[in-house]
Amino acid sequence: MANTNIIAIDGPAGAGKGTLTKKLCEHYGFAGLDTGSLYRAITLCMIEMEQNMDDINLEFAIALTQKLSDTHKILEYAKNPKIRSQLTNKYVASVAKIPEIRTIMRKYQIDFGTNPPDLPDGRKAKGAVIEGRDIGTVICPNAPVKFFITASPETRASRRLKEYLDQGESASYQEVLASIIARDEADRTRATSPMKQADDAIVINTSENSKEQTFEVAKKIIDERLHITFD
Ligand code: CDP
Repeated sequence: MANTNIIAIDGPAGAGKGTLTKKLCEHYGFAGLDTGSLYRAITLCMIEMEQNMDDINLEFAIALTQKLSDTHKILEYAKNPKIRSQLTNKYVASVAKIPEIRTIMRKYQIDFGTNPPDLPDGRKAKGAVIEGRDIGTVICPNAPVKFFITASPETRASRRLKEYLDQGESASYQEVLASIIARDEADRTRATSPMKQADDAIVINTSENSKEQTFEVAKKIIDERLHITFD
């Protein structure tokens, strides 16, 4: 039977979607999909194949996406820490705005939601948490729980800067802030599947929250709407 326990999480860069997804998956025994990592994996692959990222060859990009998706190599690429480098960040929104690439990725994400893979420890997943920009609006419009996670650009830039420094990359706060604002703007204003809060999404602003507080707010809502049993 197709899975209907789906939690859709959307929001801008660095708002805390990934952290919340991880905590929810651990708590409920759900499989998690970070859809940004798919677009990042395609971008990284193109950079490594020395494509001109300032003038993307559409035909090449579409064929590559289809191949990475069909062979499931996309998940391998998505494990490469370089998908989070500043170089990948710079180009990912240009790749993600290509409609044909989104169509291929849409199928991939819907399949994940309706038939989530087993958990790393072999247990069957009880549902799916899917995070991105268009999950509640385009990918899973019927998800019973939708969150839009946000925070001030300054908070998001400080968090991102810390991640870069922890990874050993050098970066300045001003550069990171500018890059986050530019990427949000590109994601919000693109023609196909822009970043948008679904009408029925619950907004959580994480600017003043600890990770635990955000998790507790989300958990309360999920417990009211989904009836997950714990073994
Ligand atoms: O980690 P962060 O919040 O910075 O971004 P991400 O979720 O890894 O997404 C990286 C980029 O992929 C976004 O800026 C979007 O351009 C694109 N993306 C998208 O277009 N649609 C999604 N569902 C997820 C990500």
